[in-house]
Amino acid sequence: MYRDPVQSLEPLPSRPAAMRALRVGMIGIGTVGSGTFRVLARNQAEIAGRAGRPIEVVMVAARNLARAAGIVGKSVPLTDDPLRVATHPDVDVVVEVAGGTGPAREWVLAAIAHGKHVVTANKALLAVHGAEIFAAARQHGVAVAYEGAVAVSIPIVKALREGLAANRIEWVAGIINGTTNFILSKMRDEGLDFAAALAQAQALGYAEADPAFDIEGIDAAHKLTLLAANAFGTPVRFADVQVEGITALQRMDVACAEQLGYRIKLLGMARRSEEGMELRVQPALVPASHLMAHVNGSMNAVMVKGDAAGVTMYYGAGAGSEQTASAVIADLVDVARLDGTSITQRVPHLGFHAHAMNALPVLPRAAVSSPHYLRVPVQTGSGIEAVASWFADRQLPVKQVTLAAGQPDTSPQVLVLTLPVRQAEMDLALHALQAHPAVAGAVTALRVEELA
Ligand code: HSE
Repeated sequence: MYRDPVQSLEPLPSRPAAMRALRVGMIGIGTVGSGTFRVLARNQAEIAGRAGRPIEVVMVAARNLARAAGIVGKSVPLTDDPLRVATHPDVDVVVEVAGGTGPAREWVLAAIAHGKHVVTANKALLAVHGAEIFAAARQHGVAVAYEGAVAVSIPIVKALREGLAANRIEWVAGIINGTTNFILSKMRDEGLDFAAALAQAQALGYAEADPAFDIEGIDAAHKLTLLAANAFGTPVRFADVQVEGITALQRMDVACAEQLGYRIKLLGMARRSEEGMELRVQPALVPASHLMAHVNGSMNAVMVKGDAAGVTMYYGAGAGSEQTASAVIADLVDVARLDGTSITQRVPHLGFHAHAMNALPVLPRAAVSSPHYLRVPVQTGSGIEAVASWFADRQLPVKQVTLAAGQPDTSPQVLVLTLPVRQAEMDLALHALQAHPAVAGAVTALRVEELA
């Protein structure tokens, strides 16, 4: 007998009695805070549908109250005292999007001590003070969520902690700073010089308040610290990251890398082996044919190698107001769903329960082995043979030696690609090569990451 499919459906369960809204206190209403406020208002019905209850901003702390009033209107109380938000009895969760590490640490610890959950996009805070903050949160039974702190729009923390929970993660590699990726893309595609490209990134709101954090690789190192902790179940170890930014990078190397079939990216790499864990942020050559080489502008990408899933890759905007808000609000939705759960029932802050965390030894720079790119300026008249035979004499494994094309304003440049060489050995070789009579200027060396 025909049954009308609509008529035959079970009645939908009736809606639960209206649940109490999750009450949000915001500290900071700048680029990220204003984006969060806007998206929460615009998508409130969908967000409440996912969270199971409404999410309402009940208080905002801002330095500039007049500007803040222009963003949140008259209905949300404003204060210039962040601690008032952090400790207010009407606030369930504090969203800290003011940035910085000194006062932000106090606000976050105060919120935790008052039994409030915390959502933050502040990678510097967690990279530097994460151990203390997560321990306090465990003690008080509250969540500290930080999806917006790493590769803003990409749910990479969730992917590592939940989606890839079955895997032994072998490595995580990422382009995790939008500003530097934007600068490198502009240098390559438009021939812009470094300063002009940085000015554009600042105007677009990608850069940190102190852009040195971006261009020196520090911001990427903050994020790598959080990725490595979640990947390997190791405590946050910012002080152990080898960090090198892009300030010394020359346009000539961008062009020479291109000639060899590579592109230069500021790459964060966390890899574990029998000997220990590599934790480094460096400009590196990646094969031009690799997906990572095609991550341009302020976009970010993270690759994860797990023993079961294999290589997975995640791509999305790495900076921006609503792009970060997307992650901050996803964390708020998670927090809204926590009611009635105990801390052992929740996803642990760093993916692993505290008793299972393991402080892996970090490999010193000298012990890391990788292929290298060298650019060797040589005296006019001395060719690539001098450099090639020097490498052969030293038994350093070389994949390619060639002359840089199209550099009419400089002395000839010999380009060398090596096979994997330990950094200690490479440093000694560079020192010796620099003194070679055929060498006419400073030798440039960069790592190569094949990301195979
Ligand atoms: N300054 C950061 C970047 C913002 O450029 O990636 C997002 O974390």
